[in-house]
Amino acid sequence: MMSVVLKMMCVLLFAVFVSAEHMPMTDFDLEKMGGKWYIIGMATNAEWFVSNKANMKMGTAMLVSTEDGDLDLTYTNMNENGSCWRMNHLANKTESPARFVFTSQRWGNDNDMRVVDARFDEYAFIHTIKTKGGVSELFNVLYGRNSTVTEDLVEKFKTFSLDTGILEENIVILPPNEECPSA
Ligand SMILES: *[C@@H]1O[C@H](CO)[C@@H](O)[C@H](O)[C@H]1NC(C)=O
Ligand SMILES: *[C@@H]1O[C@H](CO)[C@@H](O)[C@H](O)[C@H]1NC(C)=O
Ligand SMILES: *[C@@H]1O[C@H](CO)[C@@H](O)[C@H](O)[C@H]1NC(C)=O
Repeated sequence: MMSVVLKMMCVLLFAVFVSAEHMPMTDFDLEKMGGKWYIIGMATNAEWFVSNKANMKMGTAMLVSTEDGDLDLTYTNMNENGSCWRMNHLANKTESPARFVFTSQRWGNDNDMRVVDARFDEYAFIHTIKTKGGVSELFNVLYGRNSTVTEDLVEKFKTFSLDTGILEENIVILPPNEECPSA
């Protein structure tokens, strides 16, 4: 009897621990989050990524806070042929300062995006739950202020992504790429 109770408590504690890890960070600063970031790494078991990861290269993200406290996101990536791919979303603020939500028209999914860890002059871990047709997939991104980051940070991102259930082969540090002119 005792051991069943103990086991249940362990399961509960584990559940609390796991969900706490995906929580938005507490000392978030919207102003400091703004500016240009390099997309250093990505991690997700989603099929679109698994089948394309070998061809993906580093892009950039430009984050601008709005007067309302929302976050304007612009992603840019240079294609193989030198043309530039861009995508923009206005991510709505939520009650939690480090959590934003938006709907992607292009992919037809709902995005619940949390900044789970950051040193605003160095890196940020972005954890997004993408939901489409009732199916959710997790997407972790490592943002860096510089196009190169330390090995320690790469290891930290790998550990974080493994903890969220991403397979090791689906945690990718993207190769460098030419940059698109900022628009
Ligand atoms: C360059 O490549 C992109 C992505 O593969 C494609 O969408 C675009 O049409 C290409 N542009 C030209 C000018 O070939
Ligand atoms: C974001 O906010 C706008 C304006 O308040 C609202 O129309 C839209 O439905 C919101 N989007 C999401 C995903 O909550
Ligand atoms: C980013 O790179 C610049 C120039 O190489 C360097 O001065 C700066 O310290 C770097 N910042 C971080 C946080 O590593």
